[in-house]
Amino acid sequence: MKIICGPASQLLAGRVSELTGYDLLLSEYKRFPDGEQYIRILDSFEGETVTIIQSTVNDSDLVSLLQLIDACCDAFKINVVIPYMGYARQDKQFRKGESISARALARTIKADNVLTINIHDTSILDYFDANAVNLDATPVIGKYIKNLRLKDPLIIAPDDGAIGLAKNASKDLGLDYDFLEKTRLSGDTVSIKPKHLEVKGRDVIIIDDIISTGGTIAETILLLRSHGAHEVFTACVHPVLSSNAVMKLFRAGVKSIIATDTIDKGVSVVSVAPVIGEAMKNI
Ligand code: R5P
Repeated sequence: MKIICGPASQLLAGRVSELTGYDLLLSEYKRFPDGEQYIRILDSFEGETVTIIQSTVNDSDLVSLLQLIDACCDAFKINVVIPYMGYARQDKQFRKGESISARALARTIKADNVLTINIHDTSILDYFDANAVNLDATPVIGKYIKNLRLKDPLIIAPDDGAIGLAKNASKDLGLDYDFLEKTRLSGDTVSIKPKHLEVKGRDVIIIDDIISTGGTIAETILLLRSHGAHEVFTACVHPVLSSNAVMKLFRAGVKSIIATDTIDKGVSVVSVAPVIGEAMKNI
């Protein structure tokens, strides 16, 4: 098995190689004067199984991934790991005439196996022309949280869509979890509060799959602080953190942002390399 990394996932691919002992092949990337991208894999891999690791955070990352898959046409088998898949939130047709962008992209990726990590909706897996499996990074996030030795920690999902993340992050670690429930009190008033548990005096960690604009989490931080939470942390798998998201979170009073290295950012303190390394044993 050889590991080939795309430009968006160099650190993560390096960590996977270091952990698994599989060789990390060297590639070069450049752009032509007209802006077109160029990729060449410098080490040989003919007849071998290759695992390409590349998040598709922006459009040029997707082009790089397609180029790498094409460059690997002489490999014995091609595995593709997409730690963060952009466009995954466009997973259905919300209005007539719209493209299901996640499907459009997934259909371009042809490989023997595709691994994703906490993809926004697992229905997207069916669109790949490959055996596609989604991995869960929340147990490694949970372990990180446990080691912070917080005050009576409670993991909170900002909505019922993220309950699975909170549950899996706390599993086997003896941590409590809950989710925020919205109750309509009248035509124009709603109350949002943790469904089962009190946050007063506790350290709370809000968990979500993606933090993009930071809007969802900033509101949740304010709400939990108004309910008397001690310190409020936030954790996510994919730190997209577009525009002024980081500022919004700190202005809302976050103590710290915890994220994985599916996207390589300053807050990516938890590595998903062990999750990928373990899954590579089965492909
Ligand atoms: C939504 O379905 C996702 O799970 C996240 O809650 C959402 O993408 C976060 O977006 P933002 O940071 O822009 O509020």
